[in-house]
Amino acid sequence: MQQVLARGAESVIFKIEQWGSPFVLKWRQTKPYLLKDIDSHLRKLRTSRECKMLTVSRLLGVPTPAVYSVDLDKHMIMMDFIPGTQFKQLAGQISRSDLSSLSRGFGKLIALLHEGNVVHGDPTTSNVIVDDKSRMWIVDFGLSEMNATLEMKGVDLHLIYRALETTHWDLQETMLDSTLEGYVDILGSTAEPTLSRMKEIRERGRYH
Ligand SMILES: Nc1ncnc2c1ncn2[C@@H]1O[C@H](COP(=O)(O)OP(=O)(O)O)[C@@H](O)[C@H]1O
Ligand SMILES: [Mg+2]
Repeated sequence: MQQVLARGAESVIFKIEQWGSPFVLKWRQTKPYLLKDIDSHLRKLRTSRECKMLTVSRLLGVPTPAVYSVDLDKHMIMMDFIPGTQFKQLAGQISRSDLSSLSRGFGKLIALLHEGNVVHGDPTTSNVIVDDKSRMWIVDFGLSEMNATLEMKGVDLHLIYRALETTHWDLQETMLDSTLEGYVDILGSTAEPTLSRMKEIRERGRYH
């Protein structure tokens, strides 16, 4: 049995059944507008990066689906199915105080990544799944990187800022403040340079 769970810009997410349990197959599609060799190279790179970073991030304390198999030639990853709702969808349906505590949790998870010198690369609320115990899981690590510099971490925070601004304009203040609170909960004063870098990047306007 195969069911399409999501269809993103670059991939299709199937829910499958194997050994009596649900799993997810993430398949990176061809992009017709790219040259064939570049396309295949990029899909392979992102597939292998995603596999590695799902595991690296879990070791840093961030809940991520476990990977069971990967096929680099078919650009496919088989991983745990995480039952839950995208944080993006949930955000408009819950109380302000729940929204605030989930956002704070999101900030903590991003901080755990940054503390381990990892950036997510696409830290939007659609890449966060909230399960029925309000536990948060992070997915979509195809743009994630290790050995992150201060600039890369600043960009990661800036991307959060921009994602909240564009997708949750009416809730952005609550979400942003709480996310940054969670970030500082974990990193304390060591968050300072990254927060200033985020502001600097914002003022630079380079990524707008
Ligand atoms: N392991 C998983 N378990 C449950 N849902 C998932 C899983 N992986 C992805 N999804 C769902 O599919 C959506 C798209 O997956 P994602 O990895 O973000 O792909 P894309 O690169 O296309 O954005 C996610 O936002 C999430 O809702
Ligand atoms: Mg995604």
